[in-house]
This record gives sequence, structure tokens and C-alpha cells, in this order.
Amino acid sequence: MTILFHNTTFDKIDVWKKSIKKYFKNENIISIKDYKKFNEVKYAIIWNLPDEILPKLKNLKVIFSMGAGVDHILKLKYYNKKIPIIRIKDALMGERIANYALAQLLNYQLNFKIFQNSQNKQYWSGERTPIDNKSLTVGILGLGFLGNHIARLLSKLNYNVIAYKKSLTKVKNIKIYTGKNIINFIKNSDVIISILPSTPQTHNMIDKKFLKVMKKNSCLINIGRGNTIEEKDLINHLKKNKNFFAYLDVFKNEPLEPSSQFWKLPNSTITPHVAGVTAIEPSVRYMYSIYKKVKQNKKVNSDVNISNGY
Ligand code: GLV
Repeated sequence: MTILFHNTTFDKIDVWKKSIKKYFKNENIISIKDYKKFNEVKYAIIWNLPDEILPKLKNLKVIFSMGAGVDHILKLKYYNKKIPIIRIKDALMGERIANYALAQLLNYQLNFKIFQNSQNKQYWSGERTPIDNKSLTVGILGLGFLGNHIARLLSKLNYNVIAYKKSLTKVKNIKIYTGKNIINFIKNSDVIISILPSTPQTHNMIDKKFLKVMKKNSCLINIGRGNTIEEKDLINHLKKNKNFFAYLDVFKNEPLEPSSQFWKLPNSTITPHVAGVTAIEPSVRYMYSIYKKVKQNKKVNSDVNISNGY
């Protein structure tokens, strides 16, 4: 059997290749350059596959996303919505993304951005009282698998955690908002961590109306997808509200263009889409376990709801 592997975005591609070869040791692993073998391809392990490749893989059975998100597959021009997609659901990725969220939250609470800006000007800014965990209500926008990891970590650390999600479910110690209640969710959050997927419903969801409802002295951490934010609205909001901070890991266009105003605003912090870096070994092991089931003619239980878009 043949597996197509394609990813030109991630770090440590050599380690990925080694791990894939280790687990799928009896399979032929090919790249998009091996177009003569495309007909043999049954599995594809991919991230950002070029549009024109998919229709050439006539015998493809399963697509593995190399991350938690599947928007890079759903947006492919020729994706027929029939081939099941398996996404990474991994506890280590959960730990990484929760660490990232906590780090940026602490950056905000402890005024680190302000001190960094002062340092850049060689200016001693003086004492500032930090915000304590127990007096901070953190709103998590999007409470899926990864959002839950963040919520659990923050709850353990005495933050008051609330969340907004598409469907109402009970989660211990967390007040859940859904549907039109978004306004109350925003009003009741001292800060918001957004981990929304990219779907037609979430497109530009965080716009000037949304930002206006947020508290004035607040912060927005975005570790979901860039197109959930109307970026020009956020830039205006940051310019007008000096005590509002944005911690942004994802953008509408990545890499973020050098001309973006986000680079230079004193109240914005940028990281290059690294909040939930996929952990290689457990992810490849997970893909291999699914592959074994498919080989034994077992049903592929994809947890991706294609019509929901995530
Ligand atoms: C990263 O953004 C992922 O989807 O895993």
C-alpha cells in the first residue's frame, strides 16, 4: 500500500518522516513528486496539500490531518466531502496549547508586555500590581477537545472559567453559554481566549461589535484560527484602547505580512502559529492505530463533522 506524505509548513519534517517510516514500516511512503504512483495511494498524511493533487488520488480512502484543524482540507477545491478525515486529538497537544494560553494570560496579568515595552525604551516603569487568578474570569470561546484542556488547567489554578460553545453540555465547575447568550458570555469575561475553528459561522465573529462588548481593560488571546477575527476592527480597537491587549498566534494570512500593523502596536503580541504544535510520536502512533482498523475493514470513526466544518 502507498501513503502520500505532504507538509512543507511544520518544523522537524525529518523527524515526522522517520516516525511515519517506523510505524508504517511495510508501506511505501511517497511525496507529491512521485505522481506516477498516485493511483496506488490509499492514505494521505497531509498539511496544506496543493489544490491540484487531491483529484489525482483516485483510490484515496482516508485523509489524516497532521494537526487538530481540518480547515486546510475542507477548503481544498476538489475535496468531495466523502473521504473521511482523521484529525489529531492528542493529550500532549492539549498540554502544549494550555501552557501557551496560560503563558499569555500570565503575561497579561503580570504586565510583562508593558515591562517589555519599557525595556525597549530603556525606561524603568515602576511597580504595578498584578491581577490575581481568583479575581479573573476567563472566558474560553470554543470548548472542544483542546478548549477543555485549557479550561481544566485554568480551573486548577483558581481562575474562574466560563465558556461559550455551539451546543450546551455540562462541564464540571464551568458555566457554559451558548447561542444568543454570547453577549452575556462576553460581558462576564474579564479576558477571552478564543480557540474557535474556521467555519462559515465563525468567520469574522470577533469584530467591532464583539470587541465593544468586551471589558475595556482586558485581553484577547487567539489560538484558534485567524479568520475568526475581523483584523482591521481589532487593530482599531487596540489603537483606541491602550489597556486592551491582544495575544495572537493565528492570522488571516500566514505568514503575517511585514506591513501588518499588528507587528508594531505596543499592545499586541505575535507568535507564529505555535500554540498547539503537533506532538509527532503520539500523533503518528494514533494515525497508525486508525490505519490498522481500516486495513481490517473496520469502520473509520471520524470525529470530524464535515458539515459543521470541524
Ligand atoms: C494547528 O493549528 C492545528 O490545527 O493543529
